[in-house]
Amino acid sequence: MEVIILEDSHAVATLSAQRISDLINKKPTAVLGLATGSTPIALYQKLISLYQQGTLSFRHVVTFNLDEYIGISPNNPQSYHAFMKRELFDSIDIQPHNSHLPTCERAGETSCQVGAAYEQAIAEAGGIDLQVLGIGSNGHIGFNEPSSSLVSRTRVKTLTQATVNDNNRLFEEGEFQPRLAMTMGIASILDSQQVILLATGAQKARAVCNAIEGPLSAMCPASALQLHKQVTFILDEAAASKLENHHYYRWVRRINESLEKN
Ligand code: GLP
Repeated sequence: MEVIILEDSHAVATLSAQRISDLINKKPTAVLGLATGSTPIALYQKLISLYQQGTLSFRHVVTFNLDEYIGISPNNPQSYHAFMKRELFDSIDIQPHNSHLPTCERAGETSCQVGAAYEQAIAEAGGIDLQVLGIGSNGHIGFNEPSSSLVSRTRVKTLTQATVNDNNRLFEEGEFQPRLAMTMGIASILDSQQVILLATGAQKARAVCNAIEGPLSAMCPASALQLHKQVTFILDEAAASKLENHHYYRWVRRINESLEKN
C-alpha cells in the first residue's frame, strides 16, 4: 500500500487530480469509479479547471459511481445523481450516456436484479481502471457499513446511525433523510485496477488508522483495501495523525520522489 501524507486538503486534491489526469491522458477511454461526499469536491474542482485549461478531456471517459440513496428520486438535489451533475458532470465534456450511478428506480426489477445489472455494466465497460474513494468516520467505503461482507457485490445496504448522523448536516431540519442506499460492494471495489482513497480532517484519523494499520476486518470495511495490489491513501496531516508508522510512509515518499527526479 502506498500511503502519502500531504500538508493539507488542497494538496490532497491536487495530487489526486494529477493521478486521474495522467491516467486519462494515457488512456482517453479510461473507466473511473467515482465517489460522493464532501472530500472529493476539491478534486472535482481541480479536474474541472484542467478541463477548462484544455489539458484534460472526458469525451471518451466512462464513469461508475459507488452508491446512491434509496427513497429519493435522481432529480432530488440530495441525490448522488444530482450531486455528480452539480459538482462535476455539468462542467466537463463527459457524454451523459457514459456516466452511471446505481439506482433502484428501475420499474419491474428487484434490487438484486438492479445490483447484478450494475456489476454487469461495469464488466462490459472493461472494469474500473481507477476507483476514487472517500472514507466514512466509521471506516465505510461507498455505503459498505461495518459488518459488510468482504466479498459483497452491488446491493442495498441499511445505513448505520453513525453514518446517518454524519450526513445529517447536509439535510435541512424536517427534510427526509434516506436510511437505505444501493452501493457497490467491497469485492466490486477490489476488482478495480487501481484505488485512490482520499481522507482529510481529524474526524477521519481513527478510520484511516484502522484501515491501514488495523487488522483486516469487516468491522472496518476500508481495511479490505489491504488486499488490493495497487492502492494509494492520499491523506492530509490531520487524517494521518493517528498512524503509528507515519515516519516510514514519509520516508518512502521522499525516496520515491528522489527516484522520480533521476
Ligand atoms: C458517504 C459516501 C461515501 C463517503 C463518505 C464520507 O457516506 N457514501 O462514499 O466516502 O460519505 O463523506 P465525506 O467526504 O463527506 O466525509
